[in-house]
Amino acid sequence: MNDNTEVRRIGVLTGGGDAPGLNAVIRAVVKTACNAGVEVIGLEDSFDGLIEPGRSRTLTPRDVTGILRLGGTILGTTNRGNPFAYPILTSDGTKDYSDRVIEMFHKMGLNALVVIGGDGTLGIAQKFCDRGLPIVGVPKTIDNDIVGTTNCFGFDTAVAFATDAIDRLHTTAEAHRRIIVVEVMGRYAGWIALYAGVSGGADAILIPEIPFDLECVAERLRERDKWGARFSIVVVAEGAFPKGGKWTLVEEARQGYVERLGGIGAQVSEALGKLTGKETRAVVLGHLQRGGAPTSFDRTLATRFGGKAVELILSRQFGMMVASAPPDIVSRPLADVTGKTKMVPPNYDLLRTAKALGIAFGD
Ligand code: F6P
Repeated sequence: MNDNTEVRRIGVLTGGGDAPGLNAVIRAVVKTACNAGVEVIGLEDSFDGLIEPGRSRTLTPRDVTGILRLGGTILGTTNRGNPFAYPILTSDGTKDYSDRVIEMFHKMGLNALVVIGGDGTLGIAQKFCDRGLPIVGVPKTIDNDIVGTTNCFGFDTAVAFATDAIDRLHTTAEAHRRIIVVEVMGRYAGWIALYAGVSGGADAILIPEIPFDLECVAERLRERDKWGARFSIVVVAEGAFPKGGKWTLVEEARQGYVERLGGIGAQVSEALGKLTGKETRAVVLGHLQRGGAPTSFDRTLATRFGGKAVELILSRQFGMMVASAPPDIVSRPLADVTGKTKMVPPNYDLLRTAKALGIAFGD
C-alpha cells in the first residue's frame, strides 16, 4: 500500500480455532476505528469472506455492543480455509484462491486488514503481506504457544476453566481414593497443563516438552499412598507423549486438514491403573476450554490488542503482529514470529517451582 493512501475502510477477520476474547478484539477494532472515522468491514469465516462474494458486512459500534463478554466470534471462523491451498472436496487436490483474495480486497475498497488468528492464520497473513496486502495480525490461541507475545487472549480463560475442573475432580478423587487423569488442550506446548496443573494442585503434569516415563509418575503416586494421601490428580496435555513414543491422534492429517490430537489421557489412566493397582478414571476437558465468557484478564488483553492493531494501521505499520510484553503492548514483524512454536522452556521458573514442590513430570 502506498504510504500516503488515506485509511478509510479496513477489514477484520477471525481464523483458526476460536478462543474466548475474539469478540472483545472485534469490538475494540470497530469502536477504535469508527471513532477515528474509519469504516470496518467484518469478513465471515476467516479468509472465506475474501473468497466468496456476499460474505462480509459493515460493522458499526452498534453491531458490537454487548459482545465483550461473549465467547466464540460473531464473524465465524474456520481452520480449513487456507486460500493458498483451499480444500476442494470434489477433487483430490487443493485450489489456490490467493489471487481472488487480493482482487476482492481491492474490489471491496479495503485499505488494510486486521487478521486475528493463531500461527496458521498469521502464517497466511504473512504470505499475503509478501504479496503486498497491508495487514496487521492479532495473536490468538488458548494454547499460548505463539512466539513473540507473552500472552494470548483465551489462555487465561482456558486455565481458569481447567483449574475449576481440577478442583471438582479433587473432591471426587479423594472420596473414592482414585487417580483421576485430566486431559487438557495443548497440541505442541504444555502451557495450559502446566498453569492449570499448578493452580489446581495436581500431583503429576505431563507436557509435550518433557516426554514421560510413567513408572516415574507411578512411583510418585505410590509415595502419596504411603503418606496417606490415597488419591491423585494427573494433568496431561493432549500433545504429551511417552519417551521414545509419539502423539496420540484421533485423526491423521490430510490435505487441507491438520491432525487431531486426543486420547493420551485414557492411555495414561489405564497404564497408571496397572502400575499402581489403583482405580483410575480419565476426563477430557476438550472444547469446554474454548467455550464460554472470557475472563477479565482476557477481555482486557483482547481490547488492548484490538486498540493497538488500529493504532498500527493508522500509523501505517503493516506486516506487524501486536504482542504482549508486560507491562506494554508492542508490535513484532509477522515474519519473525510465524512458523514457530513457543514451548515451555526447560528452565522456566514455574516448571522449576513445580518440580521443587514435588510435582512429577515423568522425567
Ligand atoms: O490450537 C488450539 C486448539 O484448541 C488445540 O489445543 C486443539 O488441539 C485444537 O485447537 C482443536 O481444534 P479443533 O477445534 O479443530 O478440534
